[in-house]
Amino acid sequence: MREVLPGISAVGSPDWDRRSFDALVPLPHGTSYNNYMVKGSEKTALIDTVDPTKEYELICNLVKLGVDGIDYVVVNHAEQDHSGSLPMILELFPQARVLCTEKCKDLLVRLLEIEPDRCQVVADKEIVSLGGKTLEFIVAPWVHWPETMLTYVKEDRLLFTCDLFGSHYASSDLFAGDNPEIIPAARRYYAELMMPFRKSIAGHMEKLAGYDIAIVAPSHGPLFSPPDMIFSAYRDWISDGVKNEVVIPFVSMHGSTRKMVDYLTDALIQRGITVRPLNLETTDSGVLSMSLVDAATIVIACPTVLFGPHPLAVSATYLINILRPKARFMTVIGSYGWGGQAVETIKGMLTHVKPEILDPVYINGTPDTGALKQLDLLAEAIMEKHRAAGILHQ
Ligand code: FEO
Repeated sequence: MREVLPGISAVGSPDWDRRSFDALVPLPHGTSYNNYMVKGSEKTALIDTVDPTKEYELICNLVKLGVDGIDYVVVNHAEQDHSGSLPMILELFPQARVLCTEKCKDLLVRLLEIEPDRCQVVADKEIVSLGGKTLEFIVAPWVHWPETMLTYVKEDRLLFTCDLFGSHYASSDLFAGDNPEIIPAARRYYAELMMPFRKSIAGHMEKLAGYDIAIVAPSHGPLFSPPDMIFSAYRDWISDGVKNEVVIPFVSMHGSTRKMVDYLTDALIQRGITVRPLNLETTDSGVLSMSLVDAATIVIACPTVLFGPHPLAVSATYLINILRPKARFMTVIGSYGWGGQAVETIKGMLTHVKPEILDPVYINGTPDTGALKQLDLLAEAIMEKHRAAGILHQ
C-alpha cells in the first residue's frame, strides 16, 4: 500500500512470478493488479479491485489504510483480473455502490453474479463528487473489451486507465521514472491486447487531448508522471505509419523452408531492409506480437504437413489475423513434399486484415536455383513496395 497523492492510495499488488495470462500471453516480468482508494472529504471510492488470487492482500492494504467504509466501487473494466474481488468487497462493504457502464453492469452480472441493483450505471462525462475529489467518467469502449471506461480525478489531474497504457511488469517502484524496461514492456502489452483496437484508441486519445493529465495510473505496471512518454509511444504504435521491416514467422521440418528463409533474409538485408526471422518452434507469442506493431511486410514461411500448412504456422497466422497489425504487404514461402494447400489455406485465414498479397514462393522439395531466383524477385518486389511507401530511401 502506497500513497500516490494525498487522498489517493495504491492498494493493489504485484504478482512477481505469474508467467502466463489468459492461458495465452507470456509474462516474462510478471504483472501487477493495481487498484486505488480515493478518499474525499465526504465519500470514498475504490477504483477497480484485483485478481481473486490477491484478495487477501487487498483486504490487508485496506485495513492498513484504516478504511472502514466504501461508498463507491468504480469498475472501469469487467475482466476478472480487475473485477474478480468485487464480490468479496461488496460483501464486506454492503453499502457500497458499483459505478460502471451499462455494458459493464451486464458483464458483472453474468461473470460474477453481482446483484444488478448494486450497480449504478454512469454516462460519458458524468461526474460524482467525493468532496474535494471529483470523479469524471470517460466512456472508452474497446480497450480491450466493449464495456471499458476511464476515470479522471479533476483536482489531481490524474487518470485511472485500467488496462489502457498498462504493462505486465511487476515492480517495487510505483512510477515508471526512467526505467528503460517499461516502454518495451508496454509495447509488448499493447501488441498482445490493444493492437486490434488501435483505431478506437486513437479516438480515445483524441478525446483525452481535451483533459489536463499529470498522472496516468493504469491497473497493470507502473504509473506515468508526466505521461508524455507513454502517450508518445502510443501515438506512434496506433498511427498508420509502418517501418521498413519484414517479419518472417517460420517453421521448417527438414531444412528446405529454413534454407529459403535464410536466403530471403539475406536478400532483404542486401536491399537495406530490416528483417526479423522468428522461428516459431522457439518464439513466444509475445515476441511475435511485438514484431507486428509496425512492420510493413509479413512473410509466413512453412512446409506442408499432410494436406495443409504446418500447425505452428496456422497458429501464428491465426494470431496475426486476430491482432490485426497494420502491415501493408504479406506473402507465403515454403516447401511441400507431395502437394497440399498451404498457401491457399493461409491466405484464406486472413479475414480481418487486408494487406496486399505479394506472389508466394511455394516449391516442391529443396530450393534449387530456380527457387532462389524467385526469392530474389520477391525481395526485389518487397524493396519496391517499401520504396513506394516512402519507408526505404535507397
Ligand atoms: Fe487487465 Fe483486460 O484485464
